[in-house]
Amino acid sequence: MAEKKETAFMEKIVALCKRRGFIFQSSEIYGGINGFWDYGPAGAELKRNVRDAWWNDVVRRRTDVVGIDGTIITHPRVWEASGHVTSFSDPMVDCKKCKGRWRADQLPETKCPEGGPHDYTEARQFNLMFESHAGPIKDDDNKVYLRPETAQVIFAQFQNVLSVSRQKIPFGIAQIGKAFRNEINPRNFTFRSREFEQMELEFFIKPGTDADWHKRWVEERLTWYETIGLPKEKLSIYEYKKEELAHYASACVDVMFAFPFGVQELEGIAARGNFDLSQHEKFSGKSMAYFDDETKEKYIPHVVEPSAGVDRICLALICAAYTEEEIAPGDVRIVMKFAPRIAPVKVAVFPLLRNKPPLIEKARQVFELLQPHFTTEWDDRGNIGKRYRYQDEQGTPWCVTIDFDTLGEKGPELLDTVTLRDRNTMKQDRIKIADLVPLISQRLRG
Ligand code: GAP
Repeated sequence: MAEKKETAFMEKIVALCKRRGFIFQSSEIYGGINGFWDYGPAGAELKRNVRDAWWNDVVRRRTDVVGIDGTIITHPRVWEASGHVTSFSDPMVDCKKCKGRWRADQLPETKCPEGGPHDYTEARQFNLMFESHAGPIKDDDNKVYLRPETAQVIFAQFQNVLSVSRQKIPFGIAQIGKAFRNEINPRNFTFRSREFEQMELEFFIKPGTDADWHKRWVEERLTWYETIGLPKEKLSIYEYKKEELAHYASACVDVMFAFPFGVQELEGIAARGNFDLSQHEKFSGKSMAYFDDETKEKYIPHVVEPSAGVDRICLALICAAYTEEEIAPGDVRIVMKFAPRIAPVKVAVFPLLRNKPPLIEKARQVFELLQPHFTTEWDDRGNIGKRYRYQDEQGTPWCVTIDFDTLGEKGPELLDTVTLRDRNTMKQDRIKIADLVPLISQRLRG
């Protein structure tokens, strides 16, 4: 019963994402492609706001983190050094009857369509890296991989960044970018995709300070999710037990979110020792050591790695924002209650009527006043009620309407005033045009 409710909720989310241009199935006109998703106009803005929030908070507002923007395809030795070529795989089984294919640890609960239970093969390891070839010859010498994580690009550039950035340990290198994993069973909408985006930080530290820095980053990252509007009660952490840790890791904590389909990972924060840098030193023959000018110590830094998925965060934000409100019997208002900081569009501007040139002209002036400051949308289609509903579903926190009062037709005291409607309360205030930018800026900060 509970499962049916969750499925119905996810169906509403998927339908809204399509209807309001958050997320579309990739290549939908050709029947779609499993595990790939496109972001529409609202989704692209939402995603950009998530990236910007992370980059501002993790890189720009700190003095101890710098950013890079590396390639998707690297020298294949990067992935040999990191261990991805030999061990980045999931166990896979086939059903001998229906030819279905699954991750061995995620078997379907349904019966075989050919009748009776599924008849599985032995599990075999399936490497998740997408392969391609660099250059015109398609042989093993030219084999390359689409990166399955952005992290290794950071490790491979550690010495270059250290030499140009004037940073000292402890310091971090951050990157946002696409990653690719040939997941056996992409599922739960965008949650497990084959092409997705990561926001990763490698925070390099002195050996022995791992536990302290790990704790600091777990606290920092958990709080960050609240700043972008995810409700505290839906966030939790999962602490790995000793036997669950990779052999080189001393600690790992996942930030979890209560999705409609279960409590699942948004971000992993791992204390990885010096495994990655040591491996690159071994495979490249180039030193990855750091020399401390003050203490005269030389060592390979350890690292704490907070690694988050942009698409999962967007999906969590969409699920958390979705609200249904019955405003009259049988009249349900759907409203996406995004934090204003993260909302795709901040303000929508409406002329009351589309066929009254003085209204249009005034509304255009207001639009042009707001547009340099906020993501602003112009809407003159349909009636005002329909425009509000559209903006509610897109999660726009404020709507500005220019009416005949604005033109001073009801008296000079209302000249150059507009209505400012709040998405959450639906309350409308009469505001002077000249006060709009400071007022919206203040509410956006608040
Ligand atoms: N460098 C460490 C690393 O890549 P991970 O736990 O495999 O760790 C980090 O990935 C984050 O990337 C996850 O917490 C998740 O948010 C995101 N992620 C991983 N695989 C994903 C997939 N198939 N689809 C969408 N997001 C994914």
